[in-house]
Amino acid sequence: MIRAVLTGTGSALPARRVSNAELAERVDTSDEWIVERTGIRFRHIAGEGETTATLARDAAAAALISAGLAPGDIDLLVLATATPDNTFPATATKVQAMLAIDDCVAFDVAAVCSGFLYAVQVADSMIRAGAHRRALVIGAETFSRILDWEDRTTCVLFGDGAGAIVLEARDSVADVNDPGARGVLATRLHADGRHNGLLFVDGGPSTTGTVGKLRMKGREVFRHAVVNLAAVMEEALHAAGLPTDAVDWVVPHQANARILDATARKLSLPSEKVVVTVDQHANTSAASVPLALDQAMRDGRIQPGHIVVLEAMGGGFTWGAAVIRV
Ligand code: ACO
Repeated sequence: MIRAVLTGTGSALPARRVSNAELAERVDTSDEWIVERTGIRFRHIAGEGETTATLARDAAAAALISAGLAPGDIDLLVLATATPDNTFPATATKVQAMLAIDDCVAFDVAAVCSGFLYAVQVADSMIRAGAHRRALVIGAETFSRILDWEDRTTCVLFGDGAGAIVLEARDSVADVNDPGARGVLATRLHADGRHNGLLFVDGGPSTTGTVGKLRMKGREVFRHAVVNLAAVMEEALHAAGLPTDAVDWVVPHQANARILDATARKLSLPSEKVVVTVDQHANTSAASVPLALDQAMRDGRIQPGHIVVLEAMGGGFTWGAAVIRV
């Protein structure tokens, strides 16, 4: 049986770090309001020359180093983003060119904040089908470029960044409960398009011919997020044949500290098992899960053999979870 094993992680952030106090000089808000409602203290904002593709390239290069691979070893590149450099070509192909990978399958996945979970399931399926051996799976965004900087209800919530992982095919005979069974153990995805008016961008090539700005009904998104995320985590753990108390770490989409707390409480997961970076990065959409995962791998919290659950929800709505033994 082939399994997709996590062999490397990497991340990248724009150079410019912006505090809540700096935002309060631009819009009618305060550090106190933002911290109390969201847990966010800082976000990184892309400057001149920094784009979704350059951030993705830097995260991917770091992930390749941590996996001990050269760019030419990669035969599949899946990039999750809602803020591509161009309408086309796929940003994945720009990253491929920047990394000087001569030939691989490269495409973008659009599922907004859940994009990385969608990309993981796609890459995992392609690896387990035997079509590819070494995949770069990237989440990269420059949401600062689609924010309405006059709208205090949204512009304080998001940041830019990128995270990447390497998944490699390994032949495995081990049962999922065997500690030797490393890799992606289960993934679950959902979408419910009835809610696509709650979180969307009010432009696009086929409608307005403009890029548009992000619009959100925050309170309603919040309500759906907690219910959907708890349910999909339970579903993915069940599919992996694991109880909730087998989880060593949850690496959630970093939208809001209150969503993280409420979701963990719903599953009776201790908050010490939840990786939190939202205070430092804000919501980086598809980049948030791989960014947080990379931090927790590099600082030694996540150790080989640990059971890690990734989860995210975003516009659409789309949502998903993945269970990985690292
Ligand atoms: N600074 C100061 N005041 C503000 C700000 C701000 N930045 N933004 C809104 N307010 C005001 C509002 O105008 C409102 O004032 P009013 O009562 O005079 O009308 C008041 O604060 C309360 O506004 P609400 O929107 O009801 O505040 P709420 O407690 O719901 O918090 C928030 C808003 C933080 C957006 C919350 O709803 C939330 O986190 N929702 C989830 C949204 C999210 O994370 N989306 C990301 C993508 S989806 C995902 O990743 C899961």
